Amino acid sequence: MTRSSYDPEWVAHYFDDFGIGEWERMVAAPIDEVALYIHTYYLQHYVPAGASVLEIGAGAGRFTQVLANAGAVIVVADISPEQLALNRKHARELGFATAVEAWYELDMCDMSRFTDGSFDCVVAYGGPLSYVLDKRETAVAECVRVLKPGGVLLAGVISMWGAAHQKLRGVLALTPPANQRITASGDVLPGSFPQARHFMHMYRPAEFRHLLQNAGLQILALSASQCLSLGWEALLVDIRADEARWQELLRMELEACADEGALGMGPHLIAVAQKTA
Ligand SMILES: C[S@@+](CC[C@H](N)C(=O)[O-])C[C@H]1O[C@@H](n2cnc3c(N)ncnc32)[C@H](O)[C@@H]1O
Repeated sequence: MTRSSYDPEWVAHYFDDFGIGEWERMVAAPIDEVALYIHTYYLQHYVPAGASVLEIGAGAGRFTQVLANAGAVIVVADISPEQLALNRKHARELGFATAVEAWYELDMCDMSRFTDGSFDCVVAYGGPLSYVLDKRETAVAECVRVLKPGGVLLAGVISMWGAAHQKLRGVLALTPPANQRITASGDVLPGSFPQARHFMHMYRPAEFRHLLQNAGLQILALSASQCLSLGWEALLVDIRADEARWQELLRMELEACADEGALGMGPHLIAVAQKTA
């Protein structure tokens, strides 16, 4: 396969097949709970109660539940019908369906279903801006268009050096030329390496910042996730059982991840960015 650009059907099928793994992804182990904590922190600090929120690439609903608990009025959207079905199911079973106005199957590269300035916040957590590959400028422009002036985008993307930090064994198993194509472009594409099943654009912090600024957004916050905990998964199992030490780890993670020097070193990079009025 030689495809080098975004294929919406492929993305939808990938996440349809991933199914319930998407719901479990954030609580499977203590290291995942660290990521859940950091992503949740930014939602709780930047999404006010009563805000109208478009959650694009909402998946099975982990952050839909957080948004509902924060008092948001949510429109859920995803390219994967299976993820949307799981989101609906979790909303009904776990009692947050009343916070969701509607569920839509759509591609964030074309959100023409929504008029300009429809939402106080757009949340795009978990990498949709990575999965759209070469369409990332279009996707960000759509997020900006549907935001009200002064509205806030909260987006999480896959981090280039953070992913290398997390998957170093696999990265170093590649041939140097294959790996150099990935680090030069940030793209994992069909054909990047034989086992590649998950195609994405990975960002350096400066690139992510520029993408958002060039779309007319002002950066309010940038953060990595799990920059301290990565590589210490076994230790974290013990730490998780000791509430005081667990809370101290979370406190340090939050501060370290937002430090300029650590931004690139977690698997995800989170941005909070405001549409200028
Ligand atoms: C890794 S999951 C993240 C789910 C959830 N936001 C979270 O952080 O737990 C990525 C989600 O983005 C969705 N997605 C990927 N590309 C998309 C696109 N172009 N438009 C809408 N949704 C997309 C996928 O179907 C999937 O549900």
